[in-house]
Amino acid sequence: MHPSLLLLFPILLLVYSGGFNGEAAMVVPGSKATLEHIDPTLPSARPGQAPKCSVLVLQQEFANTVGSPPATANFSQPEECPYPWTRVVLELSVSASDVQKGRMAAVWIDGAEILRTSTPVPMAPGAFWRVEKDVTRYEALLLRLNSENGGVVAMMLENSNETLPGVYNANITLHFYRGALDDVREGYTAHPTVKGLYTHPANLIYPISQESTTSLTSQLPPLPYQGTRTVPSWRSLLLTTLTMSFGTPNLLRSAYSSNRANTQGSLRANGAFRQLYATIDGKFVGGHIPFAVIYPGTINPYFWSPVAAIGAFDIPSYDLDITPFLGMLLDGQLHEVGLGVRDANPHWLLTANLHLWIDSLSDTVEAGLSVYHAPPLKVHRHAEWHNEDGASDLNADGIDRFSGWVKSSKGNLTTTVRMKVKFRSKVEVHNQGAAKTVEMIHKAKSAVVVKRGVKIMGRSQMFVEAPLHLQSMSAPAVAGGVYERTRLTHQLKELVNVNVADQVVSSSALTDRQEAEGSALLHGGEPVWGSGSTKSSYKYRDAKECHLRMVNTEAGAVKFDVASRSCSAMAEA
Ligand SMILES: *[C@@H]1O[C@H](CO)[C@@H](O)[C@H](O)[C@H]1NC(C)=O
Ligand SMILES: *[C@@H]1O[C@H](CO)[C@@H](O)[C@H](O)[C@H]1NC(C)=O
Ligand SMILES: *[C@@H]1O[C@H](CO)[C@@H](O)[C@H](O)[C@H]1NC(C)=O
Ligand SMILES: *[C@@H]1O[C@H](CO)[C@@H](O)[C@H](O)[C@H]1NC(C)=O
Repeated sequence: MHPSLLLLFPILLLVYSGGFNGEAAMVVPGSKATLEHIDPTLPSARPGQAPKCSVLVLQQEFANTVGSPPATANFSQPEECPYPWTRVVLELSVSASDVQKGRMAAVWIDGAEILRTSTPVPMAPGAFWRVEKDVTRYEALLLRLNSENGGVVAMMLENSNETLPGVYNANITLHFYRGALDDVREGYTAHPTVKGLYTHPANLIYPISQESTTSLTSQLPPLPYQGTRTVPSWRSLLLTTLTMSFGTPNLLRSAYSSNRANTQGSLRANGAFRQLYATIDGKFVGGHIPFAVIYPGTINPYFWSPVAAIGAFDIPSYDLDITPFLGMLLDGQLHEVGLGVRDANPHWLLTANLHLWIDSLSDTVEAGLSVYHAPPLKVHRHAEWHNEDGASDLNADGIDRFSGWVKSSKGNLTTTVRMKVKFRSKVEVHNQGAAKTVEMIHKAKSAVVVKRGVKIMGRSQMFVEAPLHLQSMSAPAVAGGVYERTRLTHQLKELVNVNVADQVVSSSALTDRQEAEGSALLHGGEPVWGSGSTKSSYKYRDAKECHLRMVNTEAGAVKFDVASRSCSAMAEA
């Protein structure tokens, strides 16, 4: 069970508990299913030219891995591919030998999580897919792989082939590119976040996880690519970003069944609301309401086959710019960076990577926090339930504002971070549980402004809007069982603007949308028959180009698939 779904769709859980998520296979009759599963979003992270080198770093079969440690492999970067790289792309290629449930998986380099993903529900033997992720920003980790002892690449995919026969086979390949790239993908990342001010990848990356808050000391390992033992002190940190991703602690274990009983009650009141946050020495330094990624085995597995739900292949992480708090880290003392989830059950694992930029031109950097405005989110809840029927509303609003100065070789710069969030959710159930609607919208506006005196040196702004609408009706079927019809609309809209000095360096708009509709016949909670169709559309526009992809699927097969680099031409199609 995917954690976010467990938390975000309480009503569905009630309906489908032991249903689609149970050990029943949704097999496509006559095997007309499209075997290749896709995430029809951005163009490939891989440019047109051949990579300078491609290294297969891990090859693993995941048959019965419940309770096993992650698969690991030692890796050192090939000599023919020296740093620096213009891009590094991680490719995870997976195939399923037979039908199986959807599973969660993650990839780490030296303990830092660089990909969290969910597998689709393989409905026929031989289903396969590929996840590509631009991992250039993790260059500090990739460089560590090049150090004397090499590094460790790890992957976990907790699977069991005892009930359903499917065994997953996974390959992880790193593609290293050098020189000019023959694509114009500069602004692209999967689900971009505010990042434009950091034009170079961080010098150091520290993994942090919720279970053990990480203590940071002034003792740092040597800068990886300088090849010396010089230990830079925390005194010369420049910028810091925390990238967070979330899940369950036994990420790949089914926390669902053991917690089902006690989560139902509290979820009604909570609606679909969760907030991830980070702290330094216990002080709140920023938070995010995560995008509701839908786990492929849920609602109706035919909705997510062969097209992945938004974000399911590369579960989004969130950047928090904690530069205003740098002053807290520069005193040479031990500090604790903590992570948390508000309004969640304890089975959420949050991991984060702290990205640190070192000012190699200074011996010391000074910093101070000048504005700290972080009132608690205003959360209003209302719930009224009579047996199975009722309604829950939740409204949450919040504004955070932090400002801090950093005096480094770049001068005395002040960074201001602003976050504004609004979250609404409404869950209604009528007709003795037969009619359900979930209505949810999340809006967030964030800005990072860097000033020297009164002059603006850079600014990045992001606006996110993520509505979700779900409606389902169920009725007893004539031949026994329950017939259920569901309709779902889910969207992610992101507008990103980055200015450096007075120049717009990037400006982009993304709309990723899915509309799905389908039915299932449930016997004793198990789906014995199902059908579904999904329309996915992805539109990304920046100053240089527009990319559009539209894919329609039905009964596990692709019916329509077009891609265009000119959105206007498509509008007429
Ligand atoms: C990786 O290298 C270490 C140290 O050389 C060794 O102990 C370990 O067994 C190796 N792991 C794998 C998966 O080869
Ligand atoms: C993994 O790599 C091996 C060797 O190149 C290849 O035979 C196999 O088909 C690959 N598997 C997947 C799932 O890509
Ligand atoms: C699970 O997969 C493994 C490896 O392919 C195989 O040896 C084993 O027999 C399978 N178990 C079942 C119950 O099919
Ligand atoms: C840097 O600038 C800020 C605000 O303009 C000021 O409060 C601070 O004292 C300055 N720091 C130094 C070391 O000059």
